[in-house]
Amino acid sequence: MSEETEAHKAQYASKKGEVVLRDHEYDGIQEYDQTLPNWWLFVFFGSLLFFFGYWIAYYQLGWSKTDGEKIDQAMERIETAKKKALDEMLAKLDDRALIEEWSTNPEHIAAGEEIFQANCIACHGQDLSAKIDIGGGQSVNLPGLSLTDGEWKYGSKPMDVFRLINEGTPAGSDGHNGAKMEAWGQKMPPIQIAELTAFLISKNPKDFPQP
Ligand code: HEC
Repeated sequence: MSEETEAHKAQYASKKGEVVLRDHEYDGIQEYDQTLPNWWLFVFFGSLLFFFGYWIAYYQLGWSKTDGEKIDQAMERIETAKKKALDEMLAKLDDRALIEEWSTNPEHIAAGEEIFQANCIACHGQDLSAKIDIGGGQSVNLPGLSLTDGEWKYGSKPMDVFRLINEGTPAGSDGHNGAKMEAWGQKMPPIQIAELTAFLISKNPKDFPQP
């Protein structure tokens, strides 16, 4: 039987709801000889067309942005917004304002204490001493520096403390026993850094006397 008549036979049979098998048989396996349903062909050729259009638009003409470009743009927007918030905060913040206004405001201090408890005590200790009591009159040093010893390694002005928390251990410094402070400004808005600074100032009245 020629190819053409076989195709006709298969089409006729499937219209009648009969099943036609092809002549060959391999390992006992035979193959149906039926025309594919129209809905299947429609989806198949439709997806071919879609692929072709998509390939031209996306890969050849570059109509849409790649995921990488979208992420880069979003990151840029976030960085710009962060920088703007920091600039706005720095414009109204100075040593005097931190001591006289921020560190005397109970709301700022309470907020700063809460943030400190949530983020900083693992390395600086609940009582800011950078030590933890392990019972029996013994204590263990934590990785951070004491924040109540009257020493401020990277500058003792309120704005120095703000900057250190915001930017972390300065580039070029080996840190403390090799451990460095991270740049919390990457994780927190500037207002929270200012609240943390206010809290630390309030805990060290000798270092930051009120006028
Ligand atoms: C993973 C441990 C770790 C955490 C958490 C941490 N710090 Fe530190 N911090 C350090 C280390 C280590 C140093 C010393 C850095 C150096 O010497 O360069 C330091 C230094 C500091 C200093 C300077 C102290 C001085 O005497 O000069 C301040 C202020 C400070 N941290 C505030 C904070 C605040 C506020 C937080 C919470 C938002 C915090 N730290 C969370 C490890 C930590």
